[in-house]
Amino acid sequence: MTRSLNPHAAQNTGSPPTTLPPKPGDPATAPRRSILAAVAAMIIGGFVGIVPFAAGLATFLDPLLRRKKASGEADSHPPIRVASLDALPADGTPVQVPVIADLTDAWNREPNQPIGAVYLRRDGDKVECFNAICPHAGCFVGYSADRKVFQCPCHTSSFKLDGERIMPSPSPRDMDSLAVDPAKLKSGEVWVQFVNYYPGKEHREEKPT
Ligand code: FES
Repeated sequence: MTRSLNPHAAQNTGSPPTTLPPKPGDPATAPRRSILAAVAAMIIGGFVGIVPFAAGLATFLDPLLRRKKASGEADSHPPIRVASLDALPADGTPVQVPVIADLTDAWNREPNQPIGAVYLRRDGDKVECFNAICPHAGCFVGYSADRKVFQCPCHTSSFKLDGERIMPSPSPRDMDSLAVDPAKLKSGEVWVQFVNYYPGKEHREEKPT
């Protein structure tokens, strides 16, 4: 039989080893507790950090959300005042007027910006309205008082006073008529639902503003 020279080597006594549970403050348990504390701190810290982040994100997106909600609830083309009825010649001569409106996107609002132009034709108490943009390629249509027709200077499209094309015409459709608010008209004001349409198309297709 040989004896170990290592004084710390356990003697094989044949009985199972006995281990005592670690005591509080025992250095052996410290690493495990510090890991748990770090994980808990990360969870709490993440929660505390995400609340103001979520609140800030909601505030940042709020105008966009409000606008989406509003566009779902209200008409996307609210009437815009363009003239008084008295300012239009009663003999049906077309008058071109600018369309002025507030431009808004999700975060900005620019008041009183020119967004287009329309022709107004008064016939008694009725008013016809046409977008002044040529449906061919998007030039501004003029009015020829001599010929009493609308004429586009770019590629010679011509239109009758009611907006109908004079054939042959490069324009794929008649001038774009726009709705006039009848209630406002009764009170002597001309309000129109202004819409831009894509040029070059046979059928009207609305352009986003
Ligand atoms: Fe008017 Fe071409 S843009 S005719």
